[in-house]
Amino acid sequence: MQSIMWSPQFRLTCCLLMPLFLLSGVQTNGNQRLLDQLQQVGLVNLLEQATRPNVPQDLATYDFIVVGAGAAGCTLAARLSEDPSWKVALLEAGGVENIAHLTPVLAGYLQQTASNWGYHSVPQRLSCLGMNNQECALPRGKVLGGTSSINYMIYNRGNRRDFDGWASAGNPGWSYAEVLPYFLRSESAQLQGLEQSPYHNHSGPLSVEDVRYRTQLVHAFVEASVEAGLPRTDYNGESQLGVSYVQATTRNGRRHSAYSAYIQPVRDYRKSNLHIYTFSQVTRLLIDAETKSAYGVEFRYNSRAYTFKARKEVILSAGAFNSPQLLMLSGIGPADNLKAIGVPLVHALPVGKRLYDHMCHFGPTFVTNTTGQTTFTSRVTAAEVLSYLLAGNPATKLSSIGGVEALAFLKTGRSTLPQDWPDIELIMVLGSLASDEGTALKLGANFKDEIYDRMYRQLAQARQDHFTLLVMQFHPQSVGRLWLRDRNPLGWPKIDPKYCVAEEDVEYILDGIKEAIRISKMPALQSIGARLLERPVPGCESLAFASDDYWRCSIRTLSYTLHHQVATCRMGPASDPTAVVSPQLRVHGMRRLRVVDTSIIPVPPTAHTNAAAFMIGEKAADMIRSDWS
Ligand SMILES: Cc1cc2nc3c(=O)[nH]c(=O)nc-3n(C[C@H](O)[C@H](O)[C@H](O)COP(=O)(O)OP(=O)(O)OC[C@H]3O[C@@H](n4cnc5c(N)ncnc54)[C@H](O)[C@@H]3O)c2cc1C
Ligand SMILES: *[C@@H]1O[C@H](CO)[C@@H](O)[C@H](O)[C@H]1NC(C)=O
Ligand SMILES: *[C@@H]1O[C@H](CO)[C@@H](O)[C@H](O)[C@H]1NC(C)=O
Repeated sequence: MQSIMWSPQFRLTCCLLMPLFLLSGVQTNGNQRLLDQLQQVGLVNLLEQATRPNVPQDLATYDFIVVGAGAAGCTLAARLSEDPSWKVALLEAGGVENIAHLTPVLAGYLQQTASNWGYHSVPQRLSCLGMNNQECALPRGKVLGGTSSINYMIYNRGNRRDFDGWASAGNPGWSYAEVLPYFLRSESAQLQGLEQSPYHNHSGPLSVEDVRYRTQLVHAFVEASVEAGLPRTDYNGESQLGVSYVQATTRNGRRHSAYSAYIQPVRDYRKSNLHIYTFSQVTRLLIDAETKSAYGVEFRYNSRAYTFKARKEVILSAGAFNSPQLLMLSGIGPADNLKAIGVPLVHALPVGKRLYDHMCHFGPTFVTNTTGQTTFTSRVTAAEVLSYLLAGNPATKLSSIGGVEALAFLKTGRSTLPQDWPDIELIMVLGSLASDEGTALKLGANFKDEIYDRMYRQLAQARQDHFTLLVMQFHPQSVGRLWLRDRNPLGWPKIDPKYCVAEEDVEYILDGIKEAIRISKMPALQSIGARLLERPVPGCESLAFASDDYWRCSIRTLSYTLHHQVATCRMGPASDPTAVVSPQLRVHGMRRLRVVDTSIIPVPPTAHTNAAAFMIGEKAADMIRSDWS
C-alpha cells in the first residue's frame, strides 16, 4: 500500500477509482488483492462500522413512511422529523456514499457502480443511434442521497414562467412567487458577487457554491459569449438569459448531496424518531381496496420480506422511474397495462403515460491550442490528490464537477415563446468522451466503441486540449412513456422516451449548435485557437461535414440525455385527465398517499431538475405539516 501511495507513477485511477469500484460492489479484475490491502490498513472495517445499517423490525409502525432517500425524500424526511412527536421511516434501496461520491471530478464514474439503477431505454428509432442497440442509458441514483449523489451537481432552479405555468394549469400554490421561498429555504449559497442578492439564502441546509477550479478555457468561453451578445447573468436570479460560470451543489469542493445536506447533520440527534433503512427495497404499497387508503409498505431487506405500517401517510419519493413503478405494482395506473401484467386494479390513473426529458447533443467539440487545460483523469497527479484529500484544498481539479464549467441560456430564432424564456442551454464541459479515455462517459451513456475510437481516442492519446458545448433543448415536443413489462417488483420498468420523434426538436438543437459555433468564432475563443474537432460522426460521414444535414444526423446519433425525466406522476387538478397527483401531491382518488419527487413536475422545466427536487421536498413538508397539525 505504502509503495503504491508514494510512487511517482501514482495515478488517480489506482488511488481513487479502484477503491471506488470495490466499495461500490462492482467486480473488476484483480480487486481481491486491493481489497485485502485495504482490509490490512483497516479501511474496509472502518467503513463497514460507519455504515452498519439499521435492521428493520417487521410490522413496525410509523407516522410517515418515506420511500426513497433521494433529493426530495431526504429533504422531506429531514423536515418531517423536526417534530419529535412524529416517527418517520426513510427506506432506501441502495447503500451509503463513500469518498468517490464526494469527489466531484469522479461524477462520471459513479454510473459504473452499484449506486446506479442502470436502466436503459427501449431501442430508439430516431435518436440514440450511436448507442449500443440504440438504447440510451438512463442512470438513477441508488444510494442514500439518490440521484443527487451521482449527478453532475449543477444547481439550476428554472424560469419564473415555468412555475407560473404550473399554477395557471390548475395548481394553486406553485407560482414562482410561491415556490421561491422553498428554493431559498433549502439553500446556503457561497457565490461570489451574489452576497446581497434577494435570490439567494445563506443559511439553508444545501450548500451552493462556485466551482473554485477554473480553466483558461472557461474564461475564454464566458468572454466569447459576452462578445457574442449574451449578458453575464445569475441564471438563478432575476433573468436566466445569458452566460454564467456554473453554480454547484458542493461544499468546500466536495459533493453536497441531499443526504449530506439534510440527513447526515441530524441523524444522530433524531435516532428516536427518524429511522433510516438502507438496502431496503419497497416492492408494494399496502392499500385497503375498500377505502382506497394506503396503510403501509412491503419491502425486501437481506432477501427477506418485511412490512411497515403508516399511521398517517405513505409518501413515494422513489424518483421519476420508480415512483410510477411502485404505484403500478400496487394497482394504481392505466387499466390496460395493469390488466396485461395481471395486477388487480385498485384505481385507474394515467401513471407513466407521459414522460418528458431534455434531449441534448453531445457536441460540438472544439480543440484549442492551449496545453494542460483539459483534465484527463488518468493524469491527475499525486500532488493534486493529496492536496485535495489531505489538505482539503477546494480548488484542485478534483473539485471540478465532472468537467462542467459554465452554462449559457439562449433564445433561438424559431422560438414562439416570450423573450425571457430560453429555448436552449449550452453546457460548457472540459474535454469530451476522451477525458477518461473511454473508461466512464462512454460506458455511462452506452456509446458504441466506434464512436469513441473514431472521434475521441486520438484526442486522449495526444493529450490534446479541447472542450465540448453540449446543446440541450428545454421545451421538447416529443413525449415518451413508461410502463411495466411484468409484475416483478425487482425488474425494470419499460421506458420509451421517444427522443426527437418531433422533427421540430431536432431543428431547435440544430439552432443551438449554430449558436455554439458562432460563439467559438468570437475573439476570446479565437485567441486560444478554438476550432471544430473535424472528425465525422460514424454513420454521418456521407454528409458534408458541418452542413445542416450533417448536424441533424449527429443530433440523432450523439443523443445524450442529461437525465431530467419528469411528469410520470404528473401534477394537475382532478379535472385534468393526464394528472396523477393533486396540487397537494396527493394521489388522485386515493387516501393517505402522496408522491413527492421530480415525477410530479408537469412539463419540462427550463432547468436541470435537482434544485426543483429539493424545493418539492420542502414544499411538501409544509403541506403535510399543515394537514396534520
Ligand atoms: C447522471 C445524472 C446527472 C445529473 N446531473 C444533474 C445536475 O448536474 N443538475 C441537476 O439539477 N440535475 C441533474 N440530474 C437530475 C437530478 O439529479 C434528478 O432529477 C434529481 O436528483 C431527482 O430527485 P428525486 O428526488 O426525484 O429522485 P432520486 O434522487 O432519484 O431519488 C429516488 C430514490 O429512491 C430510491 N428508490 C427507488 N425505488 C425504490 C424502492 N422501490 N425502494 C426503496 N427506495 C427506492 C432510489 O434508490 C433513490 O435513492 C442528473 C441525473 C443523473 C442521472
Ligand atoms: C434561509 O434558510 C433558513 C433555513 O432553512 C430559513 O429559516 C430562512 O427563512 C431562509 N431565508 C430566506 C430569506 O428564505
Ligand atoms: C493560439 O492560436 C492563436 C491564433 O490562432 C494565437 O494567437 C495564440 O497565440 C495561440 N496560443 C497559444 C497558447 O499557442
